[in-house]
Amino acid sequence: MSKKKILSLLAVCALTFSLTACGANKTNSGTSGNNSKATSSDATKDTSKTEKPKIGVTIYKFDDNFMSFVRRAIENSAKDKAELILNDSQNSQVTQNEQVDMMISKGAKALAINLVDPQAAPAIISKAQAANIPVIFFNKEPNVEAMKSYDKTWYVGTASAESGIKQGEIVAKSWKEHPEFDKNKDGKIQYVLIKGEPGHPDAEARTKYVVDEIKKQGIEVEQLELQTGMWDTVKGKELMDAWLSKHGDKIEYVIANNDAMALGAIQSLKAAGYFTNDKYMPVVGVDAIPDAIEQIKSGYMLGSVLNDAKSQGTATVQLAINAALGKDVLDGTEWKLDENKAVRVPYVGITKENISVAEEAYK
Ligand code: GAL
Ligand code: CA
Repeated sequence: MSKKKILSLLAVCALTFSLTACGANKTNSGTSGNNSKATSSDATKDTSKTEKPKIGVTIYKFDDNFMSFVRRAIENSAKDKAELILNDSQNSQVTQNEQVDMMISKGAKALAINLVDPQAAPAIISKAQAANIPVIFFNKEPNVEAMKSYDKTWYVGTASAESGIKQGEIVAKSWKEHPEFDKNKDGKIQYVLIKGEPGHPDAEARTKYVVDEIKKQGIEVEQLELQTGMWDTVKGKELMDAWLSKHGDKIEYVIANNDAMALGAIQSLKAAGYFTNDKYMPVVGVDAIPDAIEQIKSGYMLGSVLNDAKSQGTATVQLAINAALGKDVLDGTEWKLDENKAVRVPYVGITKENISVAEEAYK
């Protein structure tokens, strides 16, 4: 091998920081001498990694309102404790898989993965398993089989059904308190529902449990529309525009699987003259993100359900660091694991009355 080639190999080693990747390069190119020196200096660097482990993180897409707050919590709680490799998977599972390969080759000691496709967990798990590193999934829950398939897999998120139930409680309470919401006086709620991403455990559970809870409270319902707005404000607005021109005042309630879509619906409603001169439409969401908090305070949004981004981001980092260091994942935390190796951060129903709870969580 030429001296030039050895020098460039050393440069690659320095750039990748990765002991294993450089080791592999060396074996493949069959060099010796100079390189063993490089290996030992890398090994010295490696001891510092035990204190500040390298964690590979992916977010399914940065352009998601709620996830941007989870990301902020991840960055804040990793400060001085871990070295993050943070990736935007841009809503592509193929991209995410490549990012996982890249993070492993850069020497990540643990992975924290917000899946793009909830069904893709096995592919990520087999990569982690091959590298013998732990993987903490967060926000999009893999199914039980995937969770069981590898002992070094954990999940941080919520109990999805709880958000639907809490949202249903808000709807039912408001309906009982406001007889005028029943515009056609038939005793039933004529509602439209803007769903999140189909197949996403949160979207499926919220869609089911919100309606179940309303019915459980003895209120009859009639679904006028149900379509996906993919968690997105623009799509939420487009759906509401279309539904308003189709059903107009027949709509008595707008239920959205998240705030981003609820905010889109509110934009549409405002443009159609709602919230002025007694023209009103109750709208509920989930997440209680700061924009929604503002709308609740000013009376445009009836309520939301706090999805605690700060706690979920923090717990993800805590578990990932512990796992990377080979400690018990719950070491030094107050979280508990359920039978599916999941930490479930509680939801809180939010209306004007307890808005400070949501403000506190998003500080
Ligand atoms: C949900 C959240 C949505 C969206 C989604 C992404 O928990 O309520 O707003 O961020 O996660 O997976
Ligand atoms: Ca009615």
